[in-house]
Amino acid sequence: MSKTASNFGPMWLGMASPRMSEQVDPLIVERGEGVYVYDKDGNRLLDSQGGLWCVNIGHGRPEMKEAITNQLDKIACYNNFVDTSNNPAIELSKKVISMTQEEDMARVMFCSGGSDANETALKLARQYWKLKGMPERTNFISMQYGYHGVHFGGMSINGNDYYKEPYGPVLPGCYQIPSPFTYRNEISDDPVELAEHCAQKFEEKLLELGPETVAAFIGEPIQGAGGGVVIPPKNFWPRIREICDKYEVLLICDEVITGFGRSGSMFGSRGAGIAPDIMCLAKGISSGYIPLGATVVNQRVASAWEVDGPEGLIMHGFTYMGHPLACAAGLTALSIVEKENLPANAADVGAYFLQQLMPLLDKYEAIGDVRGKGLMIAIELVKDRATKEPLGHDDESPLMVSRAAMQRGLIIRALANSLIMSPPLIFSKENADEAAAIIDQAFAAVYS
Ligand SMILES: Cc1ncc(COP(=O)(O)O)c(C=O)c1O
Repeated sequence: MSKTASNFGPMWLGMASPRMSEQVDPLIVERGEGVYVYDKDGNRLLDSQGGLWCVNIGHGRPEMKEAITNQLDKIACYNNFVDTSNNPAIELSKKVISMTQEEDMARVMFCSGGSDANETALKLARQYWKLKGMPERTNFISMQYGYHGVHFGGMSINGNDYYKEPYGPVLPGCYQIPSPFTYRNEISDDPVELAEHCAQKFEEKLLELGPETVAAFIGEPIQGAGGGVVIPPKNFWPRIREICDKYEVLLICDEVITGFGRSGSMFGSRGAGIAPDIMCLAKGISSGYIPLGATVVNQRVASAWEVDGPEGLIMHGFTYMGHPLACAAGLTALSIVEKENLPANAADVGAYFLQQLMPLLDKYEAIGDVRGKGLMIAIELVKDRATKEPLGHDDESPLMVSRAAMQRGLIIRALANSLIMSPPLIFSKENADEAAAIIDQAFAAVYS
């Protein structure tokens, strides 16, 4: 094995094979400004990846620099264990709760990212049931194509096997139901019927396991990474909420992507017309400027901890939870989200962007579907449009299109069979026009 390794030094990248990383043309990002980033050679690239679904307020915002450096002048790092905290963490917890009053949220536990937020949610759900005197409620039900991060809990509830195969066996007690994926399912072409079928599968699974053994249902209001933007029909989430209520199962919404505006509503669950019991937040909470995540629980869940004994101890926590710099960044990022009404911009520009991409369906036979909500958009490639036959595992077409786009000044993410667009929520219609034109040119370059 070579000791000098690759373009990336001795570093292994995420979601990549080290051997492949040695061969790829690296994108080394050097700086960012608004919706653009600049690579190490000074090339300007329109960032339709938004970092990784996260830089919602755009790159290089002076307000963020000011907030972070002001806090840096005071203190960079201190813990949030037992009896210690800091003002930015306390203020951000108040801010998050004030933004989630519609959901009756009551308490916040901070962490450093989406995987942490999910892990915290799963552990709190189990402890909740122990506190309620039902310790046998330990099972979790989640969705096919769901993505909840990479820790053992999140991995175990993920809907795609490829996240689990190298690391199994996964945790026992994790089950998946079909996802109401309108483009890809063998159940029904009618979205309402499809969603009802999937909800029924949830109820059947509950009854099969025994509702008294189930801690929570967990899902993303709109599935992001696992299925390439899967938007459930409108009746899906209200039915899931109804079934959770019927059997007193907790409902956890993983809002790591959809939280703070990306889908066109402040929260994806709010857009879907439901209030979860627990929300997992990350990415947009600090717009990615400093790693930050949060698990938020509603009044019902929080009240279980109103106990004096040792059973109320939350034996969970992270060195960097409530990190002062991250929380200072979070406070400013969220104030920008509100001040600039970024959820509304995501809805407006997202709909426009989608409209600009739709004609590609007529131009390129390789495209099976173009779908999106807010600024979560996917173009799914297929082997055969009529049969929707997916691309083979070794088919590099999405990668080739994303590389062709990169050469023309646009970053889009190739993810399995799809190309994903998740730009900053400050994206304008002009940016959408620019991105759509480059995507068209990239397809033309690969498919002509
Ligand atoms: C819905 C969802 N949950 C959890 C995660 C994991 O977050 P992180 O990569 O910050 O650990 C992601 C990451 O993309 C995500 O999309």
